[in-house]
Amino acid sequence: MSKVKTIRDVELKGKQAFVRVDFNVPVEDGVITDDTRIQAAIPTIKYLIEQGAKVVLASHLGRPKGEKNPAFTLAPVAKALSEALGQPVQFLDDCIGEGVKAARAGLGEGGIILLENVRYYNGETKNDPELAKQFAEGADLFVNDAFGTAHRAHASTAGVADYVDTKVAGFLIERELEYLGEKTATPEKPFTVILGGAKVSDKITVIDALLEKCDTMFIGGAMAYTFAKAQGIAIGNSLCEEDKIDTAKEALAKAEKLGVKLLLPVDDMCADSIDFGGKTLGNTKVFEGGIEDGWSGVDIGPKTIELYKEVVANSKTVLWNGPMGIFEIKDSSVGTFAVAEAIAASDAISIIGGGDSVKAVKKSGYSDKVTFMSTGGGASLEFLEGKVLPGVAALDQA
Ligand code: 3PG
Repeated sequence: MSKVKTIRDVELKGKQAFVRVDFNVPVEDGVITDDTRIQAAIPTIKYLIEQGAKVVLASHLGRPKGEKNPAFTLAPVAKALSEALGQPVQFLDDCIGEGVKAARAGLGEGGIILLENVRYYNGETKNDPELAKQFAEGADLFVNDAFGTAHRAHASTAGVADYVDTKVAGFLIERELEYLGEKTATPEKPFTVILGGAKVSDKITVIDALLEKCDTMFIGGAMAYTFAKAQGIAIGNSLCEEDKIDTAKEALAKAEKLGVKLLLPVDDMCADSIDFGGKTLGNTKVFEGGIEDGWSGVDIGPKTIELYKEVVANSKTVLWNGPMGIFEIKDSSVGTFAVAEAIAASDAISIIGGGDSVKAVKKSGYSDKVTFMSTGGGASLEFLEGKVLPGVAALDQA
């Protein structure tokens, strides 16, 4: 696996760094409800200022679709960042233009600017070279630390690299590449992959790529019912992607050919109705070996939990992506949290592959017991699929 250069490899003193971070954090009424991504960027920012760089931070927040919409301002992030760093962060109300140019030119060593949302311009998502040039103007180097956005070929994540000589990764991207990349490419064995989520179609490329690397894969979440149907097992009223049954059959055949144990739930927690808005289930019942009509699978069952726990306990590396059931509803969150607990209790290198599984680990209170939690959602998935991420491809090779 090729390695990219990082901020450790280059001269930083007195240099202006255009740093792409992913500060796409949830904001409700101006209040940041989860600052994980801000915290995750701190080591890179601290290092840059300690080394005497002049730091220009750029990020998107939400999808303002090329309009200057205050609902998507990064102002609350500037405040939170300044508090987290214990030093002022100069927030600019634009990301390009004369005012921005002047502020960037006046930045001293160890100083920090946060630009306003780069998606206030359509050119960002279109990877417009003119916009990319403006981001690059005055910068001595491009630092990409926005792993969560590295799957996007946008002006501030990839295009900007064409106009800067030095382009390196920050510590966050470095760690993401290490854990989602190296540690899963040449894992300590036995290597167990746990995949969940609703759709086979979302995960099939990941399943395909990881079957080549793991010893055991277990499947949970609604996509398990498509797999069950592919094996001729009754699934009642559970979600099923009829057009993906053949895909599931192919994955089962591939696992067999490669000698990978592909485990499916041996029992399922089911409900006769689900109220997503009210976050409640109707009557619940556990089925083993098939689900009756009128019932839908909502979580893995107790025997499956025990089976999966045992596999985790005997693993040296565990990678988890996707919940085991509807974990937003308490009664169908048991399987997901049991997996989180099993991972937390094991000595294995544990890698949580982003999105809902990270949410579940946080909610379960075991965040500090796992080795690595990705900050990427779509980016982690695409990376695990083996795709080249444009934000990584744009960087200098080590
Ligand atoms: C994310 O939250 O997954 C990233 O910040 C990317 O956001 P996007 O899906 O709007 O490009």
